[in-house]
Amino acid sequence: MGYPCAIMAGAREKVAVTVRGARKDDAQALYECRSCPGVVRGTLQLPFRSADESAESLSQSRPNVHRLVAEVEVRVVGMLTLEAGQGRRAHVGRIGMMVHDDFQSRGVGTALMAAAIDLGENWLGLHRIELEVYTDNEPALALYRKFGFEIEGTKRRVARRDGAWCDTFVMARLAPLDHA
Ligand SMILES: CC(C)(COP(=O)(O)OP(=O)(O)OC[C@H]1O[C@@H](n2cnc3c(N)ncnc32)[C@H](O)[C@@H]1OP(=O)(O)O)[C@@H](O)C(=O)NCCC(=O)NCCS
Repeated sequence: MGYPCAIMAGAREKVAVTVRGARKDDAQALYECRSCPGVVRGTLQLPFRSADESAESLSQSRPNVHRLVAEVEVRVVGMLTLEAGQGRRAHVGRIGMMVHDDFQSRGVGTALMAAAIDLGENWLGLHRIELEVYTDNEPALALYRKFGFEIEGTKRRVARRDGAWCDTFVMARLAPLDHA
């Protein structure tokens, strides 16, 4: 089932986005997203990964891993993965996301995040959704703050990027305690 999203006007021209579950035949489009310089820079992706790895990860289905893709005019331009915890952390979800460089700052991340929070809080019953973000990733920080994520701490020199160490913020969004 598609998930149509109304997009507000803003700095760059917004696009109409449909969010749906990922399919195996999205592998090539997602490989192209993963290979974008901006995506490699903003995530833990390494350069020069193979398309086969994208296909393999999509073919591995786990019930607690929810992969949402964003389509713009039937082209897949982004993905968000929401992984729900297990046992005593079953109420905790963890997010990772990317949007193709050519489609950033046009509302795609907003559409993916809105759908993921709806899925997490209203269907899976998550009370805490967490993520990690490089401390200098301003577009990502703006997106997460817009959805109520707050910084809880800093991990120092946690990853290598283009010849330098970088720090990440741990961020989380908590559902209200009385949330059903
Ligand atoms: C981070 C990312 C997912 C955001 O998705 P996006 O589609 O670019 O985000 P949106 O267009 O929905 O913008 C969300 C908000 O971020 C802010 N924003 C967007 N582009 C921005 C920019 N270039 N600089 C600063 N803030 C920006 C705006 O506040 C915007 O909300 P608004 O349009 O309602 O004002 C995307 O840029 C991306 O995939 N980047 C590369 C990979 C990455 O960094 N992933 C995140 C890992 S933690």
